[in-house]
Amino acid sequence: MGWTERLQHWLRGLLGGDPGGRRIPERIDYASQPAEESVVVPISAAPKPAIAFRRNAVFAAFNTAVPVSDRHGLAGRKQELARLIDAVVKQRKHALIYGARGSGKTSLARVFGDLADEAGCVALYGSASEGADVDGLFRPFLDELPVQRGVAVPADKPLGVQQLANIFVQGVQQRTLLIIDEFDRVAADRTKHDVAALLKLLTDMHSTVQIVLVGIAGNVDGLLAAHPSLRRHLSAQPVAPIERDELAGLLRLCAQQAGLAFEEDAVQTIVSAAIGSPYHARLFGMHAALTAESAGRERITLGDSQKGLAEALAEWGDLTPDICHVFEHALTQAGQLRGMIALAGVLAAHAPVLTFERLNAAGVDLFGEELGGAAAVDRTIGLIAAALSEDGMPGELQFADSLSPQFLVLMANGSSRARSAAPSAREALDARELLQGVGL
Ligand SMILES: Nc1ncnc2c1ncn2[C@@H]1O[C@H](COP(=O)(O)OP(=O)(O)OP(=O)(O)O)[C@@H](O)[C@H]1O
Ligand SMILES: [Mg+2]
Repeated sequence: MGWTERLQHWLRGLLGGDPGGRRIPERIDYASQPAEESVVVPISAAPKPAIAFRRNAVFAAFNTAVPVSDRHGLAGRKQELARLIDAVVKQRKHALIYGARGSGKTSLARVFGDLADEAGCVALYGSASEGADVDGLFRPFLDELPVQRGVAVPADKPLGVQQLANIFVQGVQQRTLLIIDEFDRVAADRTKHDVAALLKLLTDMHSTVQIVLVGIAGNVDGLLAAHPSLRRHLSAQPVAPIERDELAGLLRLCAQQAGLAFEEDAVQTIVSAAIGSPYHARLFGMHAALTAESAGRERITLGDSQKGLAEALAEWGDLTPDICHVFEHALTQAGQLRGMIALAGVLAAHAPVLTFERLNAAGVDLFGEELGGAAAVDRTIGLIAAALSEDGMPGELQFADSLSPQFLVLMANGSSRARSAAPSAREALDARELLQGVGL
C-alpha cells in the first residue's frame, strides 16, 4: 500500500466510518511563497472608497468572533442537528454539546435552539461563570421562565438542587430548554455533581424543563461528573470537524458576500489547512481575501491563500508567542520526527484528546515502526510537552490552546513562521507529503 492509501485508510479509521466524499487533496505547497505580486494599478483604477467598503465586507463576511445564529449560515451540521432534535425534542433527553475551542459549539447550540423553538419548545440561553454554583447557573433563567403563580422562588438564599427541581416541575408548564454555554468554566466538582444530580432529578420527575450544556472538552467526563444512570438520559453530542466540501462551500459563500470569489486551488488550500475547523477556515479565508482585496483583485488565487496562511500564522505567533516559541523549538529539534509532530497536530485538530496509544497507532500506520513507534511517540510528546496539558484523565493530553494544532501543522509544513527552523529539504518534503492528508 502506498502512503496515500495508508493515509486514506488511517483517516477512515480515525473518523469511524466510510470517508464517503472525503478525499485526499492534491499536493499543496504551502512552503513556496510566491514572490510578492506587484500589481500595477492604473491611476484611473486606483483604490476608490469602494475598496474600504470591500475591506469591511471581508471582515464582516469572514467574521470569526460571532457565532452563527442563522441556520442557512451553518455549514455541515445536518447530522448533529438531526441527532439533537431526535434526542432532546423527541426523546426528551438532556444534552451535552462538547468540542474544541472554536469548533462551532455555540453556533450549533444557537441554531438548534432556534429549531427547537419552532418545534414548540421555549429555548433560553445562559452562560456559566467560573465560580458559579448551581444557584448561580440557574437563577438567571428564573426571571425569564414563565413560572406559574403560586410557586415561590426564595430570593434571599441560594437555591439547592431539590428546590430548583421543584420550581421547574411545579412552576413550568411549557416545554423549555435551558441552554448553558461555556460550561467548561465551571471548575468546582461540587457544582458539576449538583448539575448532574439536577439533570437526573428532572428526568425522574418528568419535568418539562430540559438542560443543554455546552462547553470545551474532549469527552463527556471532562465536563460533567456524570452520575452513571444519567448517561441514559443524556445525549452527548460531540462537535466534530466539518467535512471538506462543506467547509469549501462556507468559504465560497463568505467570499461571495464580500464580493470576491475563490479559485479552486485557493479554496482547497484553505480547507486543508483548517483541518475541519470552521474558525480556522474563516480566519485563513479572511487573510487570503484581504490579500486579494488589497491587490485590487476580485479573484482569490492560490498565492493569496498561501500568503494569507503565512499572515494568519504570523498574527497568531504575535498573539501567542509562548506557544509559538515551543513549536518553533520543537520543530528545530525534531529532525526526522517533524512528520510525527505534524501528525500530533492533525490528530488534536480532529479530536482534542491526544493519547499515547492514538499517536502511536497513527504514527506506526503512517511512518512504520522505525519513525512512528513507541520511542518516537515519547520523544514527540516530550518535544511539544510545554504546549500540552493533562487536565482530564491521566494520559489524556490536550493542547493547552486548543486553537493551536492547525498552526503547528502549518509550521511543520514550513510556512513562513517556521522558516528560521531551516528544515532540511527532505524533512520539508515529508511534512508537505503529510499535509496532503490533512483534510478530511
Ligand atoms: N457550522 C458552521 N458554519 C459556519 N461557520 C461556523 C460554523 N461553526 C462555527 N462557525 C464559525 O466559527 C467561529 C467559531 O464558532 P463558535 O463561536 O460557534 O465556536 P465555539 O466552539 O462556541 O467557540 P468557543 O470555544 O470559543 O466558545 C465563528 O466565527 C462562527 O461563525
Ligand atoms: Mg462558544
